[in-house]
Amino acid sequence: MPTWIRSLRPFDAPATRAVPGRTTDLREAERFIRLFHAENPSAGGMAARLRDVARDVARYGAYTHTYEELQFGARVAWRNSSRCIGRLYWRSLRVRDRREVGTAEGVALECVAHLREATGDGKIRPTVTVLPPDTPALRGPRILNDQLIRYAGYRTEHGVVGDPRNVALTETARALGWRGRGGRFDVLPVVIQPGLGRPLLANLPGDAVLEVPLRHPDYPWFEELGLRWHAVPAISDMCLEIGGICYPCAPFNGWYMGTEIGARNLADGDRYDQLPIVAERLGLDVSTERSLWRDHALVELNVAVLHSFEEAGVTMTDHHTESRRFLTHLAKEEKAGRVCPADWSWIVPPLSGGATPVFHRYYDTSVLTPNFVPRH
Ligand code: ARG
Repeated sequence: MPTWIRSLRPFDAPATRAVPGRTTDLREAERFIRLFHAENPSAGGMAARLRDVARDVARYGAYTHTYEELQFGARVAWRNSSRCIGRLYWRSLRVRDRREVGTAEGVALECVAHLREATGDGKIRPTVTVLPPDTPALRGPRILNDQLIRYAGYRTEHGVVGDPRNVALTETARALGWRGRGGRFDVLPVVIQPGLGRPLLANLPGDAVLEVPLRHPDYPWFEELGLRWHAVPAISDMCLEIGGICYPCAPFNGWYMGTEIGARNLADGDRYDQLPIVAERLGLDVSTERSLWRDHALVELNVAVLHSFEEAGVTMTDHHTESRRFLTHLAKEEKAGRVCPADWSWIVPPLSGGATPVFHRYYDTSVLTPNFVPRH
């Protein structure tokens, strides 16, 4: 076993016995099989497949997706993600079928392999890794981190050092024996709870975590702020739901849109809170809101994020381009006779909303499956 994986004694009662998952709803299963065949007419054999699925659900309370169903289901789950502005490329999602992985160590190895494959040398590939589903006999594994790559947040007398969003996760990792260096951008270990057995802490090897130090094209002092961010956002705490089957461990990634980092992660008052610092270095008048120092600082911070990723050769999109692409996606979906559900409050970017076309309309708000859903 690689040395970066370390198994620890459980600090509170882990699942040492099987915790049953839920029984599959046959109607959900049938609806998905029909959708698969409607959109993949060349697959053939729908009637026989429906019969087999009904038989398996009656016997075992579950059924097993074929690889083609799984790939289609995962791609449609992205297509149906109403909060995602980046869905134009839903058909290109790479689906890593790892349903055979039976141990927490195996999950850790797959997380690392996922990051390496998805990162490449900076040309980010949208990817999902599908680990075992919940079945009536046994729950699938779970990753406690909300993303594979997260920066630690340490509570100190002078406030939080690092990402305040991850204070609880950092404390969990510490309780499990992890020792952080106390820095602002320490990558947390991945905490894995297998369906059966003890939790596992896995440190991500350095080459699996590509990071970009931030510089501004016009202000040399910007580099001194010591800001950086990781290249790949890989969400790991959502359940991939396909045809009545729940895959609780199915980490997925796309590439970043600059505003996620520049207008939220580094800017929000309850995250890295950098606007006052950037504004001060820019020499802005912070004594009055009417100088719009926040807005000015936000723009320069976002310029730095986009510039740095570009210079580093790491895929990233900007909110103007991505807004236009999203409307292209919407038009394509309508043309294909489908509704494209979207959540306005997530689609409109947190910077210059009204300057992007996605601001000026409303969207269908229905909830469709397959989808990525909050894990229960
Ligand atoms: N907003 C989250 C973050 O800043 C990532 C969400 C997924 N984003 C994406 N571009 N696929 O880490």
